[in-house]
Amino acid sequence: MKKFQKIILVGGTGQIGKALIENFKSNTTEIIVITRSENRTVENIRYLNWDGISLTSHKKEFENSDILINLVGKNVNCRYTEKNKSEIISSRLNSIKAISEVLSHCETQPKFWFQSASATIYIDSKSEPMTEVEGVLGNDFSETVCKKWEACFLEQTKSLPNTKKIILRTSLVLSKEDGVYPRLKKMAQFGLGGKQGNGKQMVSWIHETDLINSINFIIENKLEGVFNTTAPYPITNSEFMKVLRQSIGVKFHLNSPRLLLEIGAFIISTETELILKSRFVIPDNLLKAGFEFKYPMIDKAFNALKNSL
Ligand SMILES: NC(=O)c1ccc[n+]([C@@H]2O[C@H](COP(=O)([O-])OP(=O)(O)OC[C@H]3O[C@@H](n4cnc5c(N)ncnc54)[C@H](OP(=O)(O)O)[C@@H]3O)[C@@H](O)[C@H]2O)c1
Repeated sequence: MKKFQKIILVGGTGQIGKALIENFKSNTTEIIVITRSENRTVENIRYLNWDGISLTSHKKEFENSDILINLVGKNVNCRYTEKNKSEIISSRLNSIKAISEVLSHCETQPKFWFQSASATIYIDSKSEPMTEVEGVLGNDFSETVCKKWEACFLEQTKSLPNTKKIILRTSLVLSKEDGVYPRLKKMAQFGLGGKQGNGKQMVSWIHETDLINSINFIIENKLEGVFNTTAPYPITNSEFMKVLRQSIGVKFHLNSPRLLLEIGAFIISTETELILKSRFVIPDNLLKAGFEFKYPMIDKAFNALKNSL
């Protein structure tokens, strides 16, 4: 008998979804991944197509799940044009509403609903640590998206009294093959691994293993609420890049001043906010609950990532 009978990952084809599948596939009878790509089955993982709007045709699939994790969201690594901004918001809110709608027609509700969210909900801060209770929520575009995202989740889950609701305010996830780490590593190998901007902005980050372990920990301990899923020791961008270079043995580096970053971001269709905003976020709730990070410090995280490549 496996530990879990059914786990549903909505938007589970991306960086975090793939890591969750690896984590759950051996201890779960069936994993259902909801995706806009085609239906397919790989071992005990069933990928089911949806249109990003409605899940009602999958009603029976949502019955009797142990855990539901919603990871849907247009990737924010894009230019903030009006069209992209609209999709960044609508993809996130629509998915929550669609899940809530389909669950309202189900006889049984999931025991846990994890909702992805972001540590970028807090204001730009270089010295004030942002905890779940005392952190200050901001009002710029990304921060507003995060607030709407969480507000929608809280509103839409009001009618699920038997489901534990968890909001994961996740920082930059470091994975060996996906997300920001392989890109930064490649830049550093090309000699572009210096500080970005003035390098004084804080970087909040989490090793993929600790993100997955924290989800397992929340399940084991039947916790709920808001969790900053981020390593306990954020560091400056300057230090972050230095430790990255050291971990891969790169001696030469050029810095990337703000103007250069603005031009580069325009060329590769992204926004400098993703690297220039100072994020000083602390996982207070996880630490208070007794969660132990495997990679609390960036040097260990980078070394582990390098060695696993
Ligand atoms: N990775 C990080 O560093 C990080 C940090 C903080 C927060 N987060 C949040 O955590 C969640 C998962 O992150 P991730 O890195 O795994 O994201 P990701 O790799 O970009 O994957 C997100 C998933 O959302 C689905 N999706 C994208 N646009 C959509 C749309 N318009 N309508 C419906 N589905 C759409 C995609 O699934 P299909 O294409 O298969 O449909 C995709 O697999 C996201 O909400 C992200 O904002 C991530």
